[in-house]
Amino acid sequence: MVKKTSTQTSLSEFINSKPENGIKLYYQKHYLEKNKVENVYPFVKWAGGKRQLIPKIKPYIPKKFNNYLEPFVGGGAMLFYLLPDRAVIIDNNMELINCYEVIKKNAEELIESLKNYKYNKDYYYEIRALDQKLDVYNSLSNVEKAARTIFLNKTGYNGLYRVNSKGRFNVPFGRHKNPKICDKKNLKAVQKAIQNVEILHGSFEICLNYAKEDDFVYFDPPYYPLSDTALFTSYTKENFGKESQIQLYEVFKELDARGCKLLLSNSYCNFILDLYNEFKIITIRAKRAINSDSSKRGFINEVLIMN
Ligand SMILES: C[S@@+](CC[C@H](N)C(=O)[O-])C[C@H]1O[C@@H](n2cnc3c(N)ncnc32)[C@H](O)[C@@H]1O
Repeated sequence: MVKKTSTQTSLSEFINSKPENGIKLYYQKHYLEKNKVENVYPFVKWAGGKRQLIPKIKPYIPKKFNNYLEPFVGGGAMLFYLLPDRAVIIDNNMELINCYEVIKKNAEELIESLKNYKYNKDYYYEIRALDQKLDVYNSLSNVEKAARTIFLNKTGYNGLYRVNSKGRFNVPFGRHKNPKICDKKNLKAVQKAIQNVEILHGSFEICLNYAKEDDFVYFDPPYYPLSDTALFTSYTKENFGKESQIQLYEVFKELDARGCKLLLSNSYCNFILDLYNEFKIITIRAKRAINSDSSKRGFINEVLIMN
Protein backbone atom coordinates (compact mmCIF):
# COMPACT_ATOMS: atom_id res chain seq x y z
CA MET A 1 0.00 0.00 0.00
CA VAL A 2 2.98 2.31 0.41
CA LYS A 3 3.51 4.61 -2.55
CA LYS A 4 7.08 5.28 -3.54
CA THR A 5 7.96 8.95 -3.17
CA SER A 6 10.64 10.75 -5.15
CA THR A 7 12.91 10.86 -2.09
CA GLN A 8 12.90 7.05 -1.65
CA THR A 9 15.63 5.04 -3.31
CA SER A 10 14.41 2.47 -5.82
CA LEU A 11 14.69 -1.20 -4.91
CA SER A 12 17.51 -1.80 -7.43
CA GLU A 13 19.43 1.26 -6.15
CA PHE A 14 19.05 -0.11 -2.67
CA ILE A 15 20.11 -3.67 -3.51
CA ASN A 16 23.19 -2.39 -5.35
CA SER A 17 24.23 -0.08 -2.53
CA LYS A 18 27.01 -1.04 -0.10
CA PRO A 19 25.96 -2.75 3.14
CA GLU A 20 26.55 -0.66 6.24
CA ASN A 21 27.46 -2.76 9.27
CA GLY A 22 25.26 -5.64 8.11
CA ILE A 23 22.15 -3.53 8.44
CA LYS A 24 21.32 -3.81 4.76
CA LEU A 25 19.62 -7.18 4.94
CA TYR A 26 17.14 -5.99 7.53
CA TYR A 27 16.18 -2.89 5.58
CA GLN A 28 15.98 -4.79 2.34
CA LYS A 29 13.44 -7.15 3.90
CA HIS A 30 11.54 -4.25 5.37
CA TYR A 31 11.59 -2.41 2.05
CA LEU A 32 10.16 -5.42 0.23
CA GLU A 33 7.42 -5.93 2.78
CA LYS A 34 6.34 -2.31 2.67
CA ASN A 35 6.23 -2.33 -1.11
CA LYS A 36 4.54 -5.67 -1.68
CA VAL A 37 1.65 -4.07 -3.60
CA GLU A 38 1.31 -0.52 -4.83
CA ASN A 39 -1.81 1.50 -4.16
CA VAL A 40 -4.75 -0.85 -4.57
CA TYR A 41 -8.46 -0.27 -4.04
CA PRO A 42 -11.79 -1.99 -4.84
CA PHE A 43 -12.28 -2.53 -8.58
CA VAL A 44 -16.04 -1.95 -8.21
CA LYS A 45 -18.07 0.62 -6.34
CA TRP A 46 -20.20 -1.59 -4.12
CA ALA A 47 -23.34 -0.80 -2.15
CA GLY A 48 -22.41 -0.83 1.52
CA GLY A 49 -18.70 -0.71 0.60
CA LYS A 50 -16.48 0.12 3.55
CA ARG A 51 -13.75 2.18 1.89
CA GLN A 52 -14.75 5.46 3.57
CA LEU A 53 -15.31 3.80 6.94
CA ILE A 54 -11.94 2.06 7.25
CA PRO A 55 -10.42 4.86 9.41
CA LYS A 56 -13.24 4.37 11.93
CA ILE A 57 -13.01 0.56 11.89
CA LYS A 58 -9.21 0.46 11.98
CA PRO A 59 -8.79 0.74 15.79
CA TYR A 60 -10.79 -2.50 16.21
CA ILE A 61 -8.81 -4.60 13.76
CA PRO A 62 -6.67 -7.13 15.63
CA LYS A 63 -2.95 -6.32 15.52
CA LYS A 64 -1.96 -9.93 14.91
CA PHE A 65 -3.75 -12.79 13.23
CA ASN A 66 -3.13 -15.84 11.05
CA ASN A 67 -5.40 -16.10 8.01
CA TYR A 68 -7.92 -13.48 7.03
CA LEU A 69 -11.49 -14.45 6.10
CA GLU A 70 -14.16 -12.22 4.63
CA PRO A 71 -17.48 -14.05 4.12
CA PHE A 72 -19.34 -11.05 2.55
CA VAL A 73 -16.48 -9.64 0.53
CA GLY A 74 -18.41 -7.35 -1.89
CA GLY A 75 -15.93 -4.83 -3.29
CA GLY A 76 -13.36 -5.93 -0.71
CA ALA A 77 -12.50 -2.58 0.90
CA MET A 78 -11.17 -4.32 4.01
CA LEU A 79 -9.29 -6.95 2.01
CA PHE A 80 -7.48 -4.29 -0.01
CA TYR A 81 -6.77 -2.28 3.10
CA LEU A 82 -5.29 -5.22 5.01
CA LEU A 83 -3.52 -6.93 2.09
CA PRO A 84 -3.13 -10.11 4.14
CA ASP A 85 -0.62 -12.78 3.18
CA ARG A 86 -3.30 -15.46 3.04
CA ALA A 87 -7.04 -15.02 2.84
CA VAL A 88 -10.34 -16.65 1.99
CA ILE A 89 -13.06 -14.49 0.48
CA ILE A 90 -16.68 -15.51 0.00
CA ASP A 91 -19.70 -13.92 -1.62
CA ASN A 92 -22.92 -15.42 -2.94
CA ASN A 93 -22.94 -13.07 -5.91
CA MET A 94 -21.62 -15.24 -8.74
CA GLU A 95 -20.97 -12.30 -11.10
CA LEU A 96 -18.80 -10.61 -8.53
CA ILE A 97 -16.91 -13.78 -7.62
CA ASN A 98 -16.30 -14.41 -11.31
CA CYS A 99 -14.66 -10.95 -11.51
CA TYR A 100 -12.26 -11.82 -8.68
CA GLU A 101 -11.41 -15.15 -10.34
CA VAL A 102 -10.86 -13.57 -13.75
CA ILE A 103 -8.70 -10.77 -12.31
CA LYS A 104 -6.62 -13.29 -10.37
CA LYS A 105 -5.92 -15.50 -13.40
CA ASN A 106 -6.48 -13.38 -16.46
CA ALA A 107 -6.34 -9.63 -15.74
CA GLU A 108 -4.59 -8.89 -19.07
CA GLU A 109 -7.43 -10.31 -21.17
CA LEU A 110 -9.99 -8.54 -18.99
CA ILE A 111 -8.19 -5.22 -19.49
CA GLU A 112 -8.19 -5.72 -23.28
CA SER A 113 -11.90 -6.52 -23.22
CA LEU A 114 -12.77 -3.51 -21.04
CA LYS A 115 -10.98 -1.16 -23.47
CA ASN A 116 -13.79 -1.82 -26.00
CA TYR A 117 -16.60 -0.58 -23.76
CA LYS A 118 -17.95 2.95 -24.06
CA TYR A 119 -20.02 5.24 -21.85
CA ASN A 120 -23.28 5.65 -23.74
CA LYS A 121 -26.88 5.16 -22.64
CA ASP A 122 -28.15 2.97 -25.51
CA TYR A 123 -25.00 0.90 -25.40
CA TYR A 124 -25.44 0.44 -21.63
CA TYR A 125 -28.95 -0.98 -22.10
CA GLU A 126 -27.72 -3.26 -24.89
CA ILE A 127 -25.03 -4.71 -22.65
CA ARG A 128 -27.42 -4.91 -19.71
CA ALA A 129 -29.91 -6.90 -21.80
CA LEU A 130 -27.39 -9.68 -22.47
CA ASP A 131 -28.73 -11.61 -19.49
CA GLN A 132 -32.32 -11.61 -20.85
CA LYS A 133 -31.65 -14.70 -22.93
CA LEU A 134 -29.94 -17.52 -21.11
CA ASP A 135 -28.34 -19.06 -24.22
CA VAL A 136 -26.81 -15.69 -25.23
CA TYR A 137 -25.53 -15.11 -21.72
CA ASN A 138 -24.14 -18.62 -21.34
CA SER A 139 -22.19 -18.23 -24.58
CA LEU A 140 -20.10 -15.42 -23.04
CA SER A 141 -16.68 -16.37 -21.70
CA ASN A 142 -15.87 -15.72 -18.05
CA VAL A 143 -13.67 -12.80 -19.13
CA GLU A 144 -16.57 -11.30 -21.12
CA LYS A 145 -18.94 -11.78 -18.18
CA ALA A 146 -16.48 -10.07 -15.82
CA ALA A 147 -15.98 -7.17 -18.26
CA ARG A 148 -19.76 -6.75 -18.52
CA THR A 149 -20.17 -6.74 -14.73
CA ILE A 150 -17.42 -4.15 -14.25
CA PHE A 151 -18.78 -2.01 -17.11
CA LEU A 152 -22.32 -2.05 -15.67
CA ASN A 153 -20.93 -1.20 -12.24
CA LYS A 154 -18.90 1.75 -13.51
CA THR A 155 -21.61 3.21 -15.73
CA GLY A 156 -24.85 2.21 -13.97
CA TYR A 157 -26.69 4.14 -11.30
CA ASN A 158 -24.57 4.70 -8.19
CA GLY A 159 -22.59 1.45 -8.45
CA LEU A 160 -25.64 -0.54 -7.44
CA TYR A 161 -25.97 -4.26 -8.05
CA ARG A 162 -29.62 -5.17 -8.14
CA VAL A 163 -31.41 -8.02 -9.86
CA ASN A 164 -35.09 -8.76 -10.33
CA SER A 165 -36.87 -11.95 -9.18
CA LYS A 166 -35.55 -13.75 -12.28
CA GLY A 167 -32.00 -12.80 -11.40
CA ARG A 168 -31.71 -10.23 -14.24
CA PHE A 169 -29.68 -7.10 -13.67
CA ASN A 170 -32.06 -4.13 -13.53
CA VAL A 171 -30.05 -1.08 -12.45
CA PRO A 172 -30.70 1.96 -14.69
CA PHE A 173 -28.02 3.91 -16.58
CA GLY A 174 -26.10 6.29 -14.31
CA ARG A 175 -24.91 9.85 -14.77
CA HIS A 176 -21.14 10.03 -14.35
CA LYS A 177 -18.67 12.70 -15.43
CA ASN A 178 -16.05 10.51 -16.99
CA PRO A 179 -16.30 6.96 -15.68
CA LYS A 180 -13.05 5.01 -15.71
CA ILE A 181 -14.33 1.79 -17.25
CA CYS A 182 -10.87 0.29 -17.64
CA ASP A 183 -8.67 1.11 -14.64
CA LYS A 184 -5.68 -0.86 -15.90
CA LYS A 185 -3.27 0.11 -13.13
CA ASN A 186 -5.62 -0.86 -10.34
CA LEU A 187 -6.73 -4.10 -12.00
CA LYS A 188 -3.08 -5.14 -12.19
CA ALA A 189 -2.53 -4.17 -8.55
CA VAL A 190 -5.63 -6.15 -7.55
CA GLN A 191 -4.32 -9.14 -9.48
CA LYS A 192 -1.06 -9.00 -7.57
CA ALA A 193 -2.84 -8.53 -4.24
CA ILE A 194 -5.09 -11.59 -4.59
CA GLN A 195 -2.58 -14.17 -5.72
CA ASN A 196 -2.77 -15.93 -2.34
CA VAL A 197 -6.47 -15.39 -1.84
CA GLU A 198 -8.88 -18.31 -2.07
CA ILE A 199 -12.03 -17.11 -3.82
CA LEU A 200 -15.29 -18.91 -3.04
CA HIS A 201 -18.78 -18.54 -4.39
CA GLY A 202 -21.39 -19.47 -1.81
CA SER A 203 -23.11 -18.48 1.35
CA PHE A 204 -21.27 -17.08 4.36
CA GLU A 205 -21.61 -20.32 6.41
CA ILE A 206 -18.89 -21.97 4.32
CA CYS A 207 -16.37 -19.92 6.30
CA LEU A 208 -16.92 -22.58 9.00
CA ASN A 209 -14.92 -24.98 6.82
CA TYR A 210 -11.91 -22.65 6.80
CA ALA A 211 -11.74 -20.58 10.00
CA LYS A 212 -9.31 -21.67 12.70
CA GLU A 213 -8.07 -20.33 16.01
CA ASP A 214 -6.38 -16.91 15.68
CA ASP A 215 -7.78 -16.27 12.22
CA PHE A 216 -9.40 -12.88 11.74
CA VAL A 217 -12.92 -12.87 10.26
CA TYR A 218 -14.59 -9.63 9.21
CA PHE A 219 -18.33 -9.90 8.49
CA ASP A 220 -20.04 -7.15 6.53
CA PRO A 221 -23.47 -8.63 5.73
CA PRO A 222 -26.42 -6.87 4.14
CA TYR A 223 -27.62 -4.72 7.03
CA TYR A 224 -30.75 -5.40 8.97
CA PRO A 225 -33.17 -2.75 7.60
CA LEU A 226 -34.04 0.13 9.88
CA SER A 227 -37.59 0.32 8.59
CA ASP A 228 -39.89 -1.82 6.46
CA THR A 229 -39.87 0.80 3.75
CA ALA A 230 -36.10 1.28 3.68
CA LEU A 231 -34.84 0.63 0.19
CA PHE A 232 -32.70 -2.36 0.73
CA THR A 233 -30.43 -3.48 -2.05
CA SER A 234 -31.07 -7.00 -3.16
CA TYR A 235 -27.50 -7.91 -4.00
CA THR A 236 -28.71 -11.25 -5.34
CA LYS A 237 -32.15 -12.69 -5.80
CA GLU A 238 -32.11 -14.27 -2.33
CA ASN A 239 -32.95 -11.77 0.39
CA PHE A 240 -31.06 -11.50 3.64
CA GLY A 241 -33.86 -11.40 6.22
CA LYS A 242 -34.23 -11.99 9.94
CA GLU A 243 -33.56 -15.72 9.60
CA SER A 244 -30.27 -15.11 7.79
CA GLN A 245 -29.22 -12.61 10.50
CA ILE A 246 -29.89 -15.25 13.16
CA GLN A 247 -27.97 -17.88 11.19
CA LEU A 248 -25.10 -15.41 10.92
CA TYR A 249 -25.17 -14.90 14.67
CA GLU A 250 -24.90 -18.70 15.14
CA VAL A 251 -21.82 -18.74 12.90
CA PHE A 252 -20.35 -15.81 14.86
CA LYS A 253 -20.83 -17.71 18.14
CA GLU A 254 -19.29 -20.89 16.72
CA LEU A 255 -16.21 -19.01 15.49
CA ASP A 256 -15.91 -17.23 18.82
CA ALA A 257 -15.83 -20.63 20.55
CA ARG A 258 -13.03 -21.68 18.17
CA GLY A 259 -10.88 -18.72 19.20
CA CYS A 260 -11.17 -16.68 16.02
CA LYS A 261 -10.85 -12.88 16.17
CA LEU A 262 -14.15 -11.46 14.99
CA LEU A 263 -15.48 -8.14 13.79
CA LEU A 264 -18.96 -7.58 12.35
CA SER A 265 -20.68 -4.51 10.92
CA ASN A 266 -24.43 -4.04 11.00
CA SER A 267 -27.11 -1.40 11.44
CA TYR A 268 -27.79 0.14 14.84
CA CYS A 269 -31.19 -1.27 15.85
CA ASN A 270 -32.74 -3.16 18.76
CA PHE A 271 -32.87 -6.45 16.91
CA ILE A 272 -29.09 -6.51 16.31
CA LEU A 273 -28.22 -5.05 19.73
CA ASP A 274 -30.30 -7.78 21.43
CA LEU A 275 -29.01 -10.56 19.23
CA TYR A 276 -25.35 -9.89 20.02
CA ASN A 277 -25.80 -8.67 23.57
CA GLU A 278 -23.13 -10.99 25.02
CA PHE A 279 -20.47 -9.46 22.73
CA LYS A 280 -18.73 -6.11 22.75
CA ILE A 281 -20.65 -3.57 20.67
CA ILE A 282 -19.54 -0.09 19.74
CA THR A 283 -21.34 2.53 17.71
CA ILE A 284 -19.84 4.43 14.79
CA ARG A 285 -21.26 7.24 12.65
CA ALA A 286 -21.45 6.45 8.97
CA LYS A 287 -22.61 8.26 5.87
CA ARG A 288 -25.73 6.60 4.51
CA ALA A 289 -25.42 6.23 0.76
CA ILE A 290 -28.03 3.56 -0.04
CA ASN A 291 -31.28 5.43 -0.27
CA SER A 292 -33.33 6.24 -3.32
CA ASP A 293 -34.30 9.53 -1.68
CA SER A 294 -31.20 11.74 -1.67
CA SER A 295 -32.62 13.84 1.21
CA LYS A 296 -32.34 10.74 3.40
CA ARG A 297 -28.63 10.27 2.72
CA GLY A 298 -27.34 11.72 5.97
CA PHE A 299 -25.28 10.30 8.82
CA ILE A 300 -26.55 7.28 10.71
CA ASN A 301 -25.34 5.07 13.52
CA GLU A 302 -23.93 1.65 12.76
CA VAL A 303 -22.56 -0.99 15.06
CA LEU A 304 -19.27 -2.82 15.17
CA ILE A 305 -19.51 -6.08 17.07
CA MET A 306 -16.43 -7.93 18.31
CA ASN A 307 -15.38 -10.69 20.67
C1 LIG B 1 -22.50 -4.87 2.60
S1 LIG B 1 -21.95 -5.79 1.24
C2 LIG B 1 -20.25 -5.99 1.61
C3 LIG B 1 -19.47 -4.78 1.22
C4 LIG B 1 -17.96 -4.94 1.38
N1 LIG B 1 -17.57 -4.95 2.75
C5 LIG B 1 -17.25 -3.81 0.65
O1 LIG B 1 -16.44 -3.09 1.24
O2 LIG B 1 -17.50 -3.65 -0.55
C6 LIG B 1 -22.62 -7.37 1.51
C7 LIG B 1 -22.19 -8.46 0.53
O3 LIG B 1 -22.74 -9.71 0.98
C8 LIG B 1 -23.10 -10.50 -0.13
N2 LIG B 1 -24.08 -11.49 0.35
C9 LIG B 1 -25.43 -11.38 0.54
N3 LIG B 1 -25.94 -12.49 1.05
C10 LIG B 1 -24.90 -13.35 1.22
C11 LIG B 1 -24.78 -14.66 1.74
N4 LIG B 1 -25.82 -15.34 2.20
N5 LIG B 1 -23.55 -15.23 1.80
C12 LIG B 1 -22.46 -14.55 1.34
N6 LIG B 1 -22.51 -13.32 0.81
C13 LIG B 1 -23.71 -12.72 0.77
C14 LIG B 1 -23.60 -9.51 -1.16
O4 LIG B 1 -23.48 -10.04 -2.45
C15 LIG B 1 -22.68 -8.30 -0.90
O5 LIG B 1 -21.57 -8.34 -1.77
